[in-house]
Amino acid sequence: MDRAAHWDRVYASKEDLDVSWFEPEPSVSLALLEAAGLKASSRIIDIGGGNSRLVDALLARDVAAISVLDVSSAAIERVRARLGDIGTRVNWIVGDVAADLDVPAVDLWHDRAVFHFLTEPDDRAGYLRNLERAVVPGGSAVIATFAVDGPARCSGLPVVRYSPETLAVTLGPRFRRVESVAHVHHTPWGATQSFQYSRFNRLA
Ligand SMILES: C[S@@+](CC[C@H](N)C(=O)[O-])C[C@H]1O[C@@H](n2cnc3c(N)ncnc32)[C@H](O)[C@@H]1O
Repeated sequence: MDRAAHWDRVYASKEDLDVSWFEPEPSVSLALLEAAGLKASSRIIDIGGGNSRLVDALLARDVAAISVLDVSSAAIERVRARLGDIGTRVNWIVGDVAADLDVPAVDLWHDRAVFHFLTEPDDRAGYLRNLERAVVPGGSAVIATFAVDGPARCSGLPVVRYSPETLAVTLGPRFRRVESVAHVHHTPWGATQSFQYSRFNRLA
């Protein structure tokens, strides 16, 4: 399937409050990024950032090096238009995280609701190559997926659901799970979705 075309269609036809994953405040992500040492000098990448408000929170904290990657150019255009001038401080990347990418070196990798769309082993392997390349030893990854009791599909696509343990096994020995948080997300129309958020350390 053509991922870019799928997600471009989503962003062309839906407003923030029309999509299940929208959250006005990325509070669980920020708590875990802060626990991972987020500070003004951090280098961070948000994978599949979409129109998430995480980038707003990072800009408000004056984080020095912020990258946002998304497979959908429509998503990137939307968030850039929303942010205006302040958005010029962000390194915007249109790309598929499962492909061979030139990702910047970062201290922090954040992904909310992207990895779980990779249902094919080759795509997960591509993601993990980028993750290992990008996150410096001693750095951290915060990855949020649907939990084992979460939805089986999102945005018309199948997903793989993870427990903290199965996610840790999938990431492999170069990442040590430090903590996990179970979170019930409330969609804009009041449905609930069960997520797990896990924080990992990149080992040397
Ligand atoms: C469910 S949305 C989550 C958006 C955002 N992370 C949030 O929490 O609000 C998934 C996002 O990931 C992007 N995406 C999906 N597959 C991707 C891939 N293989 N590489 C990069 N971005 C991807 C989509 O365009 C979309 O913006």
